[in-house]
Amino acid sequence: MRAGKFITVEGSDGAGKSTQIDFMKHWLTERDIPVIQTREPGGTEVGELIRSILLNEREANFSDGTELLLVFAARMQHLDERIRPALRKGCWVVCDRFTDATYAYQGGGRGIEEERIAVLERWVQKGLQPDLTLFLDVPVEVSLNRARLRGALPDRFERESAGFKEAVRTAYRNRALADPGRIRLVDAGRPVEMVRQEIEKILAGLIEV
Ligand SMILES: Nc1ncnc2c1ncn2[C@@H]1O[C@H](COP(=O)(O)OP(=O)(O)OP(=O)(O)O)[C@@H](O)[C@H]1O
Ligand SMILES: [Mg+2]
Repeated sequence: MRAGKFITVEGSDGAGKSTQIDFMKHWLTERDIPVIQTREPGGTEVGELIRSILLNEREANFSDGTELLLVFAARMQHLDERIRPALRKGCWVVCDRFTDATYAYQGGGRGIEEERIAVLERWVQKGLQPDLTLFLDVPVEVSLNRARLRGALPDRFERESAGFKEAVRTAYRNRALADPGRIRLVDAGRPVEMVRQEIEKILAGLIEV
């Protein structure tokens, strides 16, 4: 039994996830809907340690399988310690990236077969899926420019080639096309305010359900 709704926000680096998540949190809070904001990889003490291995170890040599298992190790902890308990209490959860990112980065980007990811997904999530996923879609050049403007040191994924980033975007788009009931593709190349308005409409539809 779960009472809260589980919303995930996906998209490339610099697509505008953090910007829109801030807005979503405000929007829900104004309507007295209890909400926690969290992120992947991370969201728990152990998960954040795994995150720093995955993102910050710029010189380390990872095999693709190691990367995939670390992502799901963090996710297991996140679901057990944070996401499921919040949903059970009736709290909504807004999560910056989740398993669609694994299909996009480790599947599309690294080339790991979908079925291998799906096996871990079934084990770790035990049927739990987001109620709604917002995929903020932007062309690769736009996401690169926005990430550059923000100015932080690029992480291990941001340092990947343009080809890797195109493959990530393609995988995200294919998932959105395959599951339009859960995943809403939002054109995030538009100004912040226009993206915000579209997200507001989608959220309004969700609180009526
Ligand atoms: N629709 C938009 N139009 C123009 N600039 C935007 C838009 N959305 C966000 N930005 C700007 O782009 C930069 C990146 O945005 P943001 O941090 O929200 O992206 P992100 O998806 O969270 O990135 P990351 O995956 O790296 O955390 C910020 O400087 C932000 O102000
Ligand atoms: Mg962000």
